[in-house]
Amino acid sequence: MQELKQKAIFDIDQAKTIKDLENIYRKYLGRKGDLTAVFKSLKKLSEKERKEQGHLANKLKQEIEQALKEKEEKLQRTSSDVSDQWIDVTAPGQIPQQGHIHPISQLRRKIEEIFQSMGFSVVEGPEVETEYYNFDALNIPKDHPARDKWDTLWIKSKLLLRTHTSPVQIHYMETHQPPLRIISPGRCFRYEATDATHDIQFHQIEGLMVDKNISVANFKGVLGEFFKRFLGPDTEVRLRHSYFPFTEPSFEVDIKRGDSNWLELMGAGMVHPNVFKSAKLSPDLQGFAFGMGLERLAMIIHKIDDIRLFSSGDLRFLKQF
Ligand code: FA5
Repeated sequence: MQELKQKAIFDIDQAKTIKDLENIYRKYLGRKGDLTAVFKSLKKLSEKERKEQGHLANKLKQEIEQALKEKEEKLQRTSSDVSDQWIDVTAPGQIPQQGHIHPISQLRRKIEEIFQSMGFSVVEGPEVETEYYNFDALNIPKDHPARDKWDTLWIKSKLLLRTHTSPVQIHYMETHQPPLRIISPGRCFRYEATDATHDIQFHQIEGLMVDKNISVANFKGVLGEFFKRFLGPDTEVRLRHSYFPFTEPSFEVDIKRGDSNWLELMGAGMVHPNVFKSAKLSPDLQGFAFGMGLERLAMIIHKIDDIRLFSSGDLRFLKQF
């Protein structure tokens, strides 16, 4: 029985599958099994020996059954572990969620590229401005009615969130000598009721070109070239008379693509001599300036009917670009 026990334990130890364990069970405890034979042989013994040996055989039977059970559990555990860790290397991967550039930034970059190729530098100015740069230096004195048009959010008595990118003209002319050719993109703010075409924050791109002999013809030329490259060769540009305190004459610029209607896109004009004076440059210089609204441009290009979508952070909207 001692020998039987060692053999059984050895076999169980070597078993690799549940099927192996079934065979081992049969080998020792089946109808013709080795231990079964021991049980059968007990009846040949004396009553005393039968009791003793029977007890030992029963104990061995329990030990073998216990060892088989434990091994079975172990095999089941490892086989389920393997299936948990199983990886289908042929399955398609999970694409990580990736963001992308905001439609307004996409537009800004494209516009910058075109102007840079025409020799314009891209410069930026502060979003928090002084009253002087946003108004006074641009020929808009304190009681001028044009200030009402550009109501804004005031931070402290003389600090405000800029209402347009035009103050960058002054910053740049204070520190650079003509000839000048810049565009300046950035965020602007206005204290006004929002609707489908007005938001309290939006983006403009300011443009400024200054030299001794810059005329409206140069302005039309640069702008025509820009819109043809930006919107396609069938784009026409029209200047309409307008008024801004910092330009004289002043225009509204409209564009028309193919058979569509004329659309107003920006304010512009020839730089007012008082603006050159504010920047301590000669008032005899000549130049043009413009300021276009990026959201309005994006609305035309992508046929978007509500400006507020751009700053809503709504992914259903943003994912379309
Ligand atoms: C100006 O801001 C002038 N600084 C433009 C300028 C620059 C004129 C240089 C002459 C020389 P205006 O207030 O019209 O002008 O605004 C210009 C553009 O900004 C508008 O045509 C429009 O596209 C955009 N814009 C103005 N207000 C809003 C608003 N509340 N929401 C969205 N876009 C706006």
